[in-house]
Amino acid sequence: MSLTREQMLREMGISPIWTLRAPQQDAGMVEEATVPEAPAEPRSEPLAVVAAPLEAPATQAERDPVPVVAVPVTSQGGAAITAVAGLDWPALSNAVAACRACSLCQQRKQAVFGVGDLNPDWLFIGEGPGADEDVQGEPFVGQAGKLLDNMLQALDLRRGEKVYIANAVKCRPPGNRTPEAAEMAACRPYLERQIALLKPKIIVLLGKAAVHAVLHDDKSLASMRGKRFDYAGIPAVVTYHPAYLLRNLPEKAKAWEDLLFARRMLRAQEPAELPF
Ligand code: URA
Ligand code: SF4
Repeated sequence: MSLTREQMLREMGISPIWTLRAPQQDAGMVEEATVPEAPAEPRSEPLAVVAAPLEAPATQAERDPVPVVAVPVTSQGGAAITAVAGLDWPALSNAVAACRACSLCQQRKQAVFGVGDLNPDWLFIGEGPGADEDVQGEPFVGQAGKLLDNMLQALDLRRGEKVYIANAVKCRPPGNRTPEAAEMAACRPYLERQIALLKPKIIVLLGKAAVHAVLHDDKSLASMRGKRFDYAGIPAVVTYHPAYLLRNLPEKAKAWEDLLFARRMLRAQEPAELPF
């Protein structure tokens, strides 16, 4: 069933109070999300959660002008990075399927490589497969995935069309625990090679594990939201993990702000429309 735009925004907890503002100076249309009342939705099943402190969102003044934080591309994967550096997409996928570089290989049903358009504008990166993903071999197919799909739909996007979805680690951490730093370091070369081959125009980091894997940063998500990071020349932005949002529904409005911010970063790269 496909939802109307209004239904989707309601699902994301941001309807009916987000509005289109009149153009500001030369900044074009700016959409604005306001923190809504907590919607009366039932509490969802427990899911792998990336904890993040509850802090007030950065004000517009704090976020403008957009700061750019450059991040060195430094894989700590040692031998693995050398091994994957020259691989093409099918070879990389095969290497991940057969990988035994960390102990997460022991309890997985299968490695979950990623899914989507191989020429994407958007790359969304999560933490690691959960139980559903481990069975189905595709990222974000459980409850958190449904919310991610709704978030994509609210942006008029769909997985597979200009969107690729991947995870910081490719194998399910037992009991949905957070991946350990050593596991993320072992898996990082695959993610880095995926990014190098996909060449997305914007990277959206969903939760702390993805931030740690890509930006090598352990600061709070709240302090990193609304900033433009730079990964190998690609803009990267930070937001909350969908599983966290399922348990903290009022935070959905902040995630929506983050997605609009990401879209602005993406659109800023597009050539201006000709005036005729
Ligand atoms: N959570 C994640 O981070 N990734 C998935 O693929 C599913 C849930
Ligand atoms: Fe290999 Fe990554 Fe799976 Fe560890 S999580 S076994 S490094 S594919």
